[in-house]
Amino acid sequence: MSVHKEVKRVTVHVLQAMKSRGEKITMLTGYDYSMARILDAAGVDVILVGDSASNVMAGHETTLPITLDQMIYHASSVVRAVKRALIVVDLPFGNYQGSSRIALESAIRIMKESGAHAVKLEGGKEIEESIKRILSAGIPVMGHLGLTPQSIYKFGTYQVRAKEKDEANRLIKDAMLLQKIGCFAMVLEKIPAALTKEVSECLSIPTIGIGGGMHADGQVLVTHDLLGITKDFHPRFLRRYLELFDSIKGAVEQYCDDVKSGDFPNEKEQY
Ligand code: KIV
Repeated sequence: MSVHKEVKRVTVHVLQAMKSRGEKITMLTGYDYSMARILDAAGVDVILVGDSASNVMAGHETTLPITLDQMIYHASSVVRAVKRALIVVDLPFGNYQGSSRIALESAIRIMKESGAHAVKLEGGKEIEESIKRILSAGIPVMGHLGLTPQSIYKFGTYQVRAKEKDEANRLIKDAMLLQKIGCFAMVLEKIPAALTKEVSECLSIPTIGIGGGMHADGQVLVTHDLLGITKDFHPRFLRRYLELFDSIKGAVEQYCDDVKSGDFPNEKEQY
């Protein structure tokens, strides 16, 4: 694909137009300059600076420990790399649940200090005031419903959400609310495919699924999972396109052998 011959920025309006004409939206996580350059060159529509950086980059068990300063650091690195994709940044746990004022201040810091284009918040009705206040400052907001990893201690497991009627009905109500107050899109994580279909058909704004099946208007994965950099993570929804853990390990082992044996550097690799 020749996306960089004529670089046209992806905006929230472009995503809306994609939904209208039935074109699927691609989203992947990005946390650093080098990987974000590759994702952008490959034509990914949206790069999510996800709080999954807490797991993938920092090695925490959950997304809860990552801080606003750390999210801004990751987002700034991504912004420096990207020419085309829309860049969305997760508001970290603790920066929007308790106070809409803190939510707004946090979103403004992300936009001002990183140069990103939008923020994402997990939840529905319970964070309505925070979303409204951020939107009132002109900052685009992406919602996130279903399995919301910042609530993992409430859920207790990373199992599929909203299988029961009550929770599914609540999710539909929340999705309608997020659209009504002005979110430009929403992630639907790990819910039944039939529910994703129902929500996506009800909404005029795009849905982006992860473990939500084929009917979402777009798909998102954690890049390190797709590339097989993460190990021993094989949920049903994940398609791994490479096994980079093993490839990189093999290359590094070869380098170690070459140095130890005196094979590297050779005469041509010195001055
Ligand atoms: O933080 C993240 O990577 C996410 C995606 C899984 C949607 O929120």
